[in-house]
Amino acid sequence: MKVLEHLLDEDQVEAVGDAAERVVELVDAGDVDSAQVALDHDFHVVDLRVIARRSLEDVAQLPEGPKAVAVREAAEEDWDYLVGLATRSHYASRFYLDRGFPRDRCDALYQAWMERGLRDPSRTVHVPVVEGEPAGYHVLAPLDDAREGHGELVAIDERHRGRGVGVALEVSSMRLLAGRGALTQRTTSSARNLAASRLHERLGFLTEKIEVWHHKWYR
Ligand SMILES: CC(C)(COP(=O)(O)OP(=O)(O)OC[C@H]1O[C@@H](n2cnc3c(N)ncnc32)[C@H](O)[C@@H]1OP(=O)(O)O)[C@@H](O)C(=O)NCCC(=O)NCCS
Repeated sequence: MKVLEHLLDEDQVEAVGDAAERVVELVDAGDVDSAQVALDHDFHVVDLRVIARRSLEDVAQLPEGPKAVAVREAAEEDWDYLVGLATRSHYASRFYLDRGFPRDRCDALYQAWMERGLRDPSRTVHVPVVEGEPAGYHVLAPLDDAREGHGELVAIDERHRGRGVGVALEVSSMRLLAGRGALTQRTTSSARNLAASRLHERLGFLTEKIEVWHHKWYR
């Protein structure tokens, strides 16, 4: 079986703790032979990862979304709010779904993810502001060698979902990345997550690849 990617970096392994006793395989959805091997060896399919991409050439022409939304970089006074939102916004992810990961460790994982975004000077956390209050986040990874930007985590506060705040935030992030010299942007999301898929479709991202997460535990 081909292992396309390992699950977590060192910070994240620390956050999930003894979850190291699991094996995770990420297999291209079209690779039926590898999927068969995984199932024959009692791996469980826990999620489908959708990778989508778009050019950033036309970002100046994109509609901005509701006028009531301003977007700025995270400030230190936002940190508690952002970490709190990160620990309650990703229950649909494969970590919470796989009961092998204790729930508090999943919370710690997303907390670590957000903290890395806030502390690492090569990352940016973009925050939409509604009526003067932070209303979500978009964690942006540094550009890669191909000058591609990548949104690592995105969430809108429960109170503000479904009103175009996600679109406003992502458009603003695309412009920021293009201004830094990015040529393209990549997104990864779960096929279970209709809201995220729809948000990215609305913004013109095209699916390039679908991969299947298989998990297996040894304890
Ligand atoms: C995904 C998320 C960021 C979308 O933000 P949002 O502000 O609610 O999105 P918008 O209001 O800008 O809507 C964008 C598009 O998605 C659609 N959409 C939003 N929520 C939807 C839902 N629950 N089901 C179906 N479509 C949905 C909207 O209708 C809109 O499409 P349209 O223009 O064709 O009508 C938000 O639902 C969220 O925070 N979810 C939890 C965190 C998460 O799953 N993050 C993604 C993985 S990291």
